[in-house]
Amino acid sequence: MNVSSSHSTTESSDFTTAPDSFALSLDRGRLPRHIAVVMDGNGRWAKARHLPRSIGHQRGRRAVRRLIELASRAQIPVLTLFAFSSENWSRPPEEVEALMGLFAYALERDMDELHAHAVRIRFIGDREPLSARIRTLMIQAEQQTEYNTGLNLLIAVSYGGQWDILHAAKQLASAVLEGVIRLDDDPAALRLVFEQNLSTATYPPVDLFIRTGGEQRVSNFLLWQLAYAELYFTDCLWPGFDEAHFRDALQWYAARERRFGGLDE
Ligand code: IPE
Ligand code: IPE
Ligand code: MG
Repeated sequence: MNVSSSHSTTESSDFTTAPDSFALSLDRGRLPRHIAVVMDGNGRWAKARHLPRSIGHQRGRRAVRRLIELASRAQIPVLTLFAFSSENWSRPPEEVEALMGLFAYALERDMDELHAHAVRIRFIGDREPLSARIRTLMIQAEQQTEYNTGLNLLIAVSYGGQWDILHAAKQLASAVLEGVIRLDDDPAALRLVFEQNLSTATYPPVDLFIRTGGEQRVSNFLLWQLAYAELYFTDCLWPGFDEAHFRDALQWYAARERRFGGLDE
């Protein structure tokens, strides 16, 4: 797919079978295993064009489809997208409604294409406040794509890093009360039980964190999982995030020297 087609009004596939100049331009040995993205700036993108915020969110959906396609082509194992935070419930009801409507629409419209491209979808976050319809669509998407072996796509909806940690802490406390594990057991074993109960249990920690929209904060995204992530911030507003921006982020990441507290890579 080329960038200009993403600005068309059609719903044509973002996936391509064309010779892949994007994937070929990347340093395969230095790609992140897990990328987490705070997709921020939809409202400001719309405001700058005198459009309603909801149009910014609609254009944001296109950028989501584009990034999923690019991450698939680059063979990134895990991509986590922050779609709606636990704090976003505090926005005006009409904005929450617009976002939920768009989310349901995307679940209905985009799932077959993602499935056809072997994307495996999971949702992370507190499902309790979501509508029954959205919860059903989420379960259907997870079941439909469960055995796919391509990109692992985690969508964070009604998600908060503190919620995630508290949930895992409660599960660990239950395991202690049930006698499955003791508090004076090996800390590595306790850590394992804790991490198995985070919403990202089976996935590697985040290597590359990307935030669009110019703010330099984590906004309660994957707090535990970001421990040693490389943090990449760009002023680009989310609907404008395209192939060139993603390549820039991956190239920046490839040049990082990661030490994890040690002395050498
Ligand atoms: C990100 O864009 C989308 C969500 C938080 C759901 P915003 O809606 O936060 O856009 P800005 O930051 O106001 O521009
Ligand atoms: C973070 O963006 C959440 C998502 C992108 C889903 P926000 O716009 O909610 O973050 P703050 O309020 O600027 O920290
Ligand atoms: Mg924002």
